[in-house]
Amino acid sequence: MAVVSPSILGADFCHLAEVIDIVNHSEAELIHLDVMDGVFVPNISFGFPVIKHISKISEKPLDVHLMIMDPDRYIETCKKSGAGWVSVHYEACTHLDRVLSHIKELGMKAGIVLNPHTPVSVLEYSLENADFVLLMSVNPGFGGQKFIPSTYRKIKELRAMADRQELKNLKIEVDGGVNTDNAARLTEAGADILVAGNAVFASDDPAAVISAIRNC
Ligand code: DX5
Ligand code: ZN
Repeated sequence: MAVVSPSILGADFCHLAEVIDIVNHSEAELIHLDVMDGVFVPNISFGFPVIKHISKISEKPLDVHLMIMDPDRYIETCKKSGAGWVSVHYEACTHLDRVLSHIKELGMKAGIVLNPHTPVSVLEYSLENADFVLLMSVNPGFGGQKFIPSTYRKIKELRAMADRQELKNLKIEVDGGVNTDNAARLTEAGADILVAGNAVFASDDPAAVISAIRNC
């Protein structure tokens, strides 16, 4: 059983209200919102004015994934826009621990994101300051990419590190190329939360795919 966080990046932006309504009535427990700056990643998605509107109609907590440089500049804006969970990239923060503290001080859950090439070992002295870690299973910036299989090993390494540090509440989220074929193996490896964009929203029945991933 996994928590599912559908990524609206895979949805039709002309019908956002309908998309949020589908998620509201589904077994998803979060809704994943990808903010990109065109610098940290080679794409630009949507920003906080859009998130603020989504927060007014979403019944699920907003899981905001910041793919931006120096995300500390936008933590207060995240809060004002209705975010419940905020994740920042290890690769985009000079003072990661300060950013995590900032997120938590504002009453939000703080997550560290690792790109596929970044080893779990960099988290050794930051893990205790995070509520969750988001492992990218594709190179960030675009939906619909192919899942990178070394993620399974990474999840196990991260779970082992969390166990060694007795961090029982640490959640592991996986993002990129997640679908009904790999969901079971991801949860067996130790993932708690699965982000799915294309698999959900390119389907004729998004709620059914959410349910299938959740009950994998
Ligand atoms: C990619 C984003 C993902 C993306 C996932 O940079 O962080 O959240 O929407 O999309 P799929 O599930 O299509 O790989
Ligand atoms: Zn994401």
